[in-house]
Amino acid sequence: MSVSGSSFAKPEHVPGPPLWLLAELTYRCPLQCPYCSNPLDFARHQEELTTAQWIEVFRQARELGAAQLGFSGGEPLVRQDLAELIAAARELGYYTNLITSGIGLTEARIAEFAEAGLDHIQISFQAADEEVNNLLAGSKKAFAHKLEMARAVKQHGYPMVLNFVTHRHNIDNIEQIIRLCLELEADFVELATCQFYGWAELNRAGLLPTKAQLERAERITNEWRDRLAAEGHPCKLIFVTPDYYEERPKACMNGWGSLFLDITPDGTALPCHSARSLPVQFPKVTEHSLKHIWYDSFGFNRYRGDDWMPEPCRSCDEKERDFGGCRCQAFLLTGDADNADPVCSKSAHHGLILDARREAEEAPWSLEQLTQRNVRASQIICKG
Ligand code: FES
Repeated sequence: MSVSGSSFAKPEHVPGPPLWLLAELTYRCPLQCPYCSNPLDFARHQEELTTAQWIEVFRQARELGAAQLGFSGGEPLVRQDLAELIAAARELGYYTNLITSGIGLTEARIAEFAEAGLDHIQISFQAADEEVNNLLAGSKKAFAHKLEMARAVKQHGYPMVLNFVTHRHNIDNIEQIIRLCLELEADFVELATCQFYGWAELNRAGLLPTKAQLERAERITNEWRDRLAAEGHPCKLIFVTPDYYEERPKACMNGWGSLFLDITPDGTALPCHSARSLPVQFPKVTEHSLKHIWYDSFGFNRYRGDDWMPEPCRSCDEKERDFGGCRCQAFLLTGDADNADPVCSKSAHHGLILDARREAEEAPWSLEQLTQRNVRASQIICKG
């Protein structure tokens, strides 16, 4: 049951503007990654904002102070009005970023987006190995097309920004991944170990790498980073470790409702991409202004400040640094989003993280055992 908080006390602290707007244009996607961060029940939310509604969202968010706009999904390329949305965002003065799998991209569309004023394109890969990539993506042609489009993006004068989600089935090939990035003349590479939300959470036992895998991958990345720096190579490698091997939680979204505003395909406004899973009612842009949503809605105020915090966060001297960690992770792991993020070793639920690490050592799933993200699987999960 969702809590709507029809009368609630707003925290005293007045938040700054939502600087980062993420437009999840659609949940439709031609790929089936088992670590997708979309909600498990995405098949229930098939409605999508129209072109005009999206442009109105961009206008209102810009008025509030938003400066960066990410187009994501699902796969944003399935929206045939993407160039129009990019042009409108550009006109409003946003710095725009397309976050894509590359499937659905063509040379003609890259040219169209460049003409519309798109600033930045990030292409994600599933692996450096064609077979593993295609198995994870659920498409036999995905890898070849991604390579072609990554090269085309670079030829159109964009910086090459690649993203590899790493997990136990591809992290041992980190060397191969880095070499592929260099061959593609990548400028920025994000080697992001899977975080466990949405479909990744469902498949966690099959995705979480072991500590040894993670340490090896980080060591190899650091060696490459040093080598590239010594050569004056422009490629930057960014390595993101999973929360599950930390002892202190991350300052998720830099604090609830502090700078990140996510709009889902049907216009639900969220303070992070996973908040839809929480038992909190979030407002829709079709029913309220963004100004009301950001400053006055219950959902966006629910975890602002620190009045909501129970112990051990309440008296913790690190609470202003990490804000109690991630609310979605606390909810997914403990069933109560008010709890401290179990990643924190001070949390009474930290044992759940230790169990997950142990599980990663003891019970690896094969690639074939992962549940692929697709409409059918979502419908089955919704019924269950
Ligand atoms: Fe929702 Fe961290 S992902 S608060």
